[in-house]
Amino acid sequence: SPRDMKPPLAQIPPEVAAVSDYEPLARERMTPAAWAWLQGGAADEITLRENQAAFQRLRLAPRALAELAGGHTRLTLLGQAFEHPIFVAPVAYQQLAHPDGEMATALAASALGAGMVVSTQAGLPLEALARQATAPLWFQLYVQHDRGFTRELVHRVQAAGYRALVVTVDAPVSGPRNREQRAGFTLPPGLSAVNLQGARALPPHTAPLGRPPLFGSPLVDTALTWRDIAWLREQTALPILLKGVLSPADAVRAADEGLAGAIVSNHGGRVLDTVPATIDALPAIARAVNGRLPLLLDGGVRRGTDVFKALALGASAVLVGRPVLHGLATAGATGVAHVLHLLRAELEMAMALTGCRTLADIDEGRLWRGG
Ligand code: FNR
Repeated sequence: SPRDMKPPLAQIPPEVAAVSDYEPLARERMTPAAWAWLQGGAADEITLRENQAAFQRLRLAPRALAELAGGHTRLTLLGQAFEHPIFVAPVAYQQLAHPDGEMATALAASALGAGMVVSTQAGLPLEALARQATAPLWFQLYVQHDRGFTRELVHRVQAAGYRALVVTVDAPVSGPRNREQRAGFTLPPGLSAVNLQGARALPPHTAPLGRPPLFGSPLVDTALTWRDIAWLREQTALPILLKGVLSPADAVRAADEGLAGAIVSNHGGRVLDTVPATIDALPAIARAVNGRLPLLLDGGVRRGTDVFKALALGASAVLVGRPVLHGLATAGATGVAHVLHLLRAELEMAMALTGCRTLADIDEGRLWRGG
């Protein structure tokens, strides 16, 4: 019960040395059901585990005595300047982790110069978050069945000063999130996707046993297609990235359609189980795209060396999901800032020890290829 939950900390405990140290601290501060929602993945959670395992299998190739003076982690993406390539991934309903929710995350991301992607399902008004932020904010868009509402939402996003749209394309239907179902997770009263207020919702669809559970339902019949992406491009001047690309063909199509970027993601293993780890999918996508559009990656990034590996295999930047919420649940904005700081510090250490002065130096040659 919430009564057994510990309150958020005002300071970072001195024994926290790595991002993973936040996990047990966060768990003590969330309900079991909310914890299952945050940590869980789809079905047997094979992809969820694989995202991290695949990073852990890769080895680095260190280099000695390289010139490091003047080194930095700066980059330009979509014409926007960033201090480092570590972004906050869109995660819904952050007040499940901490009463300050997305407001604390936005404050921390700005303080650390981290780009932040705000979820369509944020629990706080997108305008209030934009007023808080000093680093560029991007908006993650779930295109709504109600396309008129979607157009108005995009205009709000643009008016509020967001700098890009991140259209999530890997979850036209939600996955079987069994861990969350078994825990009986539901949104607590008072928490909702406030930015979707007024959208016409789909009629609830529950097929009786023996009927097609999905096919023939409005959910499937109005699911997003490439035609909708072209329509969206006409509604806004904001750069559009697709989030949830795992196939080289989809990434190439994104470039053909004039989109601004693609995020290699499997939604943190939360939708279709047994798809590959994102870091294993990245190389073929990078080869196919051949520099025509920037690639970002998320899923399983827990160490600065993971950030380094993603950049070595063709990503321009990474996004971090669950660890940000672990920091948030533990110590609010302070915890989020510390998580981002730890990842950046570890990235800089990995760069120094592999002889990389700037992000441009991080290439496949920095990975150990046996012998
Ligand atoms: C997510 N993710 C997500 N993605 C999205 O496009 N819109 C959303 O609202 C959410 N909400 C969400 C909630 C929770 C609890 C999680 C864990 C994830 C997916 C997220 O953006 C990202 O792809 C993954 O979290 C990346 O994997 P890691 O860093 O959590 O391993």
